[in-house]
Amino acid sequence: MNHAAPRPLPADFTWGSATAAYQIEGAAREGGRGPSIWDTYSHTPGKTLNGDTGDIADDHYHRWSEDITHMSALGLDAYRFSISWPRVQPGGSGPFNAEGIAFYTNLVAGLKAAGIKPVVTLYHWDLPQELEDQGGWTNRDTAYRFADYARRMAQELGTDIDVWTTLNEPWCSAYLGYASGVHAPGRTDPVAALKAVHHLNLAHGLAGRAIREELGENTRVSITLNLHVTRMHNPDNPGDQDAHRRIDGLANRVFLEPLLDGRYPHDVLADTADLTDWSFIHEGDTDLIRIPLDILGVNYYSTGMVREATSGQGGSDNDGHGNSSHSPWVGADDVEWVQMPGPYTAMGWNIDPAGMTELLVSLRDRYPNQPLMVTENGAAFPDEVAPDGRIHDNERVAYLHDHIAAVLDARDAGVDVRGYFAWSLLDNFEWGWGYDRRFGIIRVDYETLERTWKDSAFWYRAVATGTTLPG
Ligand code: NOJ
Repeated sequence: MNHAAPRPLPADFTWGSATAAYQIEGAAREGGRGPSIWDTYSHTPGKTLNGDTGDIADDHYHRWSEDITHMSALGLDAYRFSISWPRVQPGGSGPFNAEGIAFYTNLVAGLKAAGIKPVVTLYHWDLPQELEDQGGWTNRDTAYRFADYARRMAQELGTDIDVWTTLNEPWCSAYLGYASGVHAPGRTDPVAALKAVHHLNLAHGLAGRAIREELGENTRVSITLNLHVTRMHNPDNPGDQDAHRRIDGLANRVFLEPLLDGRYPHDVLADTADLTDWSFIHEGDTDLIRIPLDILGVNYYSTGMVREATSGQGGSDNDGHGNSSHSPWVGADDVEWVQMPGPYTAMGWNIDPAGMTELLVSLRDRYPNQPLMVTENGAAFPDEVAPDGRIHDNERVAYLHDHIAAVLDARDAGVDVRGYFAWSLLDNFEWGWGYDRRFGIIRVDYETLERTWKDSAFWYRAVATGTTLPG
């Protein structure tokens, strides 16, 4: 840690922490919940590390009240969580499940009573399996089913929700789910991934409209993206510039431009023309997708570097998802990824706080009037419980410190970033990595399900309740 002088924290700023349903809830077969693609995937041998599943996870479904007590004690202003679609509508269409809905109404009431603003994500990757059986995100109809589900949740939870986030990281849903297959549903079909991109964008627009129809124009609607900050190996080399353009197109602009500009980037359509003519984009779709965004959510962890292909074999990116023979980089699978300098987290991701400032500033430059929120940032490290029973996770404290400082740098540069959510409140099911990677500021003992504050939780409490950035 290198900031000696105390740095003032903004007063009008939201400090929160984030989780997602499948990663923490457990109770996978309780309360009328239907199966999701992540139940199917994690129960398929060889798909997750150690065969881990979200069957029990953090048992948040039964311990939500205790978890709110932790949030209160941390002094959080807001809590970002996701609704499990198959818990509230088991088949993804048709009947809703009152017991599942009640779980979220109670959670939201508990948060409100504790003075914590609920920031909801409607889709954090747990698609009802029945919808996948009908094509999942490759099927246009899924977008309409999603809008119906969003409308119903708006009716149920109403104005108690501070921000309605439609999707979390559609890049992962589309490319990791349908191209590289390292996420559910585990498909490896590049065209399916591009269809998924479009249908996820469409789902966002339809759902955002449905929520506003139910709750009025003042309802705050957002989407969270994992925008990729990618550097060029040699910025003077036109081949490296082109590799960068292609990755930026597939990772960032294929979402940002339809969402905020109402069009698809021509170069991405051209780069993928040998795969598809994109005729699954129907006339009028881009008008449906573009809706005013009260907040653009940004998840940031790390950076990457690319160069033009030299060997004809694309390397893997540093997303920790390189363990598949199928690339997520549909249309750019020959781009070479260059290993970034360390230090690294337990995910193998490089630590690069300056990338956070760069990303926020570049978004402001591109979309000057768009309010932003950091909806996830955090790190996995191999935590150990010390003989005193505490978890001295100094590396996580340093990571959070330096990234929050990077957000403050962006604010100092005039960027309208309104909040920061630490990923994650609790250790949890880290998708393909199961329980092996711990991101929590609160430790979960998976034998007893006991919660223990790590040093980073005590440190983050000082941020959330203080006026200066603690050292
Ligand atoms: C992004 C995802 O939204 C979240 O589910 C995941 O656990 C974290 N990043 C860490 O990989």
